[in-house]
Amino acid sequence: MSTFKAPKGTYDLIPPQSATYLAVREAIAEPLRNSGYGYVETPGFENVELFARGVGESTDIVTKEMYVFETKGGDRLALRPETTAPVLRAVLESNLHKAGNLPVKVWYSGSQYRYERPQKGRYRHFSQVGAEAIGTEDPALDAELIILADQAYRALGLRDFRILLNSLGDKECRPVYRAALQDFLRGLDLDDDTRRRVDINPLRVLDDKRESVQRQLAGAPMLRDYLCEACKAYHEQVRELLAAAGVAFEDDEKLVRGLDYYTRTTFEFVHDGLGSQSAVGGGGRYDGLSEMIGGPALPSVGWALGVDRTVLALEAEGITLDIPAATAVYAVPLGEEARRVLFGTVTELRRAGVATDFAYGGKGLKNAMKSANRSGARLALVAGERDLAEGVVQLKDLESGEQTPVALAAVADEVRRRLG
Ligand code: HAM
Repeated sequence: MSTFKAPKGTYDLIPPQSATYLAVREAIAEPLRNSGYGYVETPGFENVELFARGVGESTDIVTKEMYVFETKGGDRLALRPETTAPVLRAVLESNLHKAGNLPVKVWYSGSQYRYERPQKGRYRHFSQVGAEAIGTEDPALDAELIILADQAYRALGLRDFRILLNSLGDKECRPVYRAALQDFLRGLDLDDDTRRRVDINPLRVLDDKRESVQRQLAGAPMLRDYLCEACKAYHEQVRELLAAAGVAFEDDEKLVRGLDYYTRTTFEFVHDGLGSQSAVGGGGRYDGLSEMIGGPALPSVGWALGVDRTVLALEAEGITLDIPAATAVYAVPLGEEARRVLFGTVTELRRAGVATDFAYGGKGLKNAMKSANRSGARLALVAGERDLAEGVVQLKDLESGEQTPVALAAVADEVRRRLG
């Protein structure tokens, strides 16, 4: 072990488990690629103001969890705690929204950084795959995204997850509700921190997990009773489209997300095997975000699914993904001449697209065969001086143990025939 360890709240993805993470990313991306979403990649850091204005000055993410630093050039940057604001910034900056093809549909995959109190399922460095549909107000778009996430989770074999759905209203009806809620909350017995929260983000108080707070919240005004007709009709359409697609969801009036940019549709995917960090993904509509960061009105919707928590959900359900062995053929040379010849064969097989590995470092037969078995290869190529003198290589089936000599020139063809 070295003197150093991975920083607190982080962990490394190490083979062979790392293959599961890649497969999860791939499984989430697949339905997006298949539905008109193009790949987008933005920097791991942004101007801190983008998040302050976008995610919101009243959120824990901005006030407590951002990794902020000043560059030698005097720029104030933050490691990205999320990627919706960066993606919208990138779309505006590249004028994609002006290309006359709305919505702009994009997906991304990558690291996020939040200075949180680490625990199982909650890390300071974690990974999301996300999707954003920018510039169109259409309930079918909200439904599409929820359906695609559901499809991704199901493709992975997950079953014990639920979809929580809510509407947070829009710029017409939410402020009216907000004021009514503040009136109610100001009459309660709350600590100073919570009182401050009532001033800046009263909806978050509904989300307070403490029993002492929850008890007082009985009788609080509910957003449902304040939604304007347009928001109600919009939400009803999203619900109908999901139901028609056979995607089950639960209405959750208390669902408030931890980011300020949401309007109307909000949703979370929760997994019942994960304990307190149960949200495996979340998202919603953010019709005002573009204007908040200086752009034109671009009503949009999106989500991000947590890769780390999705992997934990797989474990919780006892699902092992069917990941093909990285190596199909393992070559074992015995002696210098065999090393030279077999290395050539390995290169030839790789160029032909066969996943091949080689016993490096002059290992003896026993050791090399152990490595061959560990690699998961189906076939081994073994050659010593006597084989070479006869112009052959021993082709060994690692499952049956059966071994047959194959003419050197025919090895590549024979291997491909056996692997089908
Ligand atoms: P979020 O709910 O903050 O939303 O994060 C989405 C998902 O990322 C969570 O459901 C969780 O699975 C994962 N996640 C968040 N924090 C952590 C952590 N500390 N450790 C491990 N996993 C974590 C967003 O980030 C929005 N940008 C989603 C969105 C996209 N809304 C619209 N478009």
